[in-house]
Amino acid sequence: MNILILGSGGREHALAWAVLQNPKCDKLIVAPGNAGIAQIATCASVDIMNGGAVVAFAEENSIDFVIVGPEAPLAAGVADRLRDAGIRVFGPSAEAARLEASKGFTKEVCDAAGAPTAAWARFSEAEPARAYIREHGAPIVVKADGLAAGKGVVVAMDEATALEAIDDMFGGQFGDAGAEVVIEEFMDGEEASFFVLCDGETVLPVGTAQDHKRVGEGDTGPNTGGMGAYSPAPVMTDAVTDKVLDRIVRPTMTEMSRRAAPFQGVLFVGLMIKDGQPRLVEYNVRFGDPECQVLMMRLGAQVLDLLLAAATGRLAEMQVNWADDHAMTVVMAAEGYPGDYVKGTAINGLDDMLETSFEMCFHAGTSGTAGAYKAAGGRVLNLTARGATLQEARDRAYALVDRVDWPEGFCRRDIGWRALGQQD
Ligand code: AMP
Ligand code: GLY
Repeated sequence: MNILILGSGGREHALAWAVLQNPKCDKLIVAPGNAGIAQIATCASVDIMNGGAVVAFAEENSIDFVIVGPEAPLAAGVADRLRDAGIRVFGPSAEAARLEASKGFTKEVCDAAGAPTAAWARFSEAEPARAYIREHGAPIVVKADGLAAGKGVVVAMDEATALEAIDDMFGGQFGDAGAEVVIEEFMDGEEASFFVLCDGETVLPVGTAQDHKRVGEGDTGPNTGGMGAYSPAPVMTDAVTDKVLDRIVRPTMTEMSRRAAPFQGVLFVGLMIKDGQPRLVEYNVRFGDPECQVLMMRLGAQVLDLLLAAATGRLAEMQVNWADDHAMTVVMAAEGYPGDYVKGTAINGLDDMLETSFEMCFHAGTSGTAGAYKAAGGRVLNLTARGATLQEARDRAYALVDRVDWPEGFCRRDIGWRALGQQD
């Protein structure tokens, strides 16, 4: 089978690594890919936001199956174009991708489905939004409705910050994404991410994870795309998982089908858990990055069979073979990230790095070739390891970090601190 993966980050490197372990994969192309992916697959330059270009490329290269990594091509309807052309694809339609692309849409769906989430209101003008904030007080959460590359959420601990967020969003800071704003009740508790494959009817959990969004140790400083993650998430006990499936995921899937927009792909369920009660923070319609790296490390070759089953309506026949293990990924980023960061610096030490089913260096933003890698992004490397315990996975991941010779790179040294503390 010839497979095409769309995307260029650590998530796509991890997907490519897992897919290649499956003997069903004859040829793998990743578009556009990165320097690490180029070591294991063919990279091709294709405009992945252009459905017509992706279909033409897939036809020219006899592609049998396309896996879409990021949300932007999904929201732009690339999966629809592939399906219309008769090409099998893993990823939701543009209509179903609104579960990530519009926060207001997700809230409407949750209300219709009876799924527990924060109380909310939606505004298209600043003055009523300000009045709502004054009425409800802080803490309160202000969100740009549309896709804002993870930056459109302000968790305001005081009223002034919330009002400032309203000015920024209606002032055009997020372009069209901020033309509407959702204001939400602040939820407190422990966050976790839950990943569920869906084929429009059946749902199949494929793992839990916790990430570290803040750039600084102790979860301080500005938000990032994620500085590290581990799986499983201890807060996602079987009892909590059952509640999430029964009260949140299945009712949402039923509501999407009722709206003639059945969801096919992976649903990334962002949760806040307090006293064993889960509430939805947000949905994403793709694997998390870097959460995907730890999930792929734990799932391995079966991933291709699972994604194919989701794409072809056969999830009811599938089961996930779980190893009773743990995985951790540590993100190395370029100095300055998430602000202006240094670009093009040399990275050494990767060539003799061990790469096994227990230890991998996934590339998130690199250019160049083996022996001459350069940083080409904010988040650059994901040192990822698996172990019998979280402590073992952690020690292996940081041993990989210590082999990297990149003076202009940094990482957090405390990934997993909460879960490791609980194990003592
Ligand atoms: P989102 O992009 O919706 O996931 O929001 C980004 C982050 O903001 C989440 O991971 C949470 O840490 C935080 N957040 C979002 N909504 C809320 C909420 N209603 N209450 C508390 N924290 C929130
Ligand atoms: N790591 C969070 C995300 O992928 O959205």
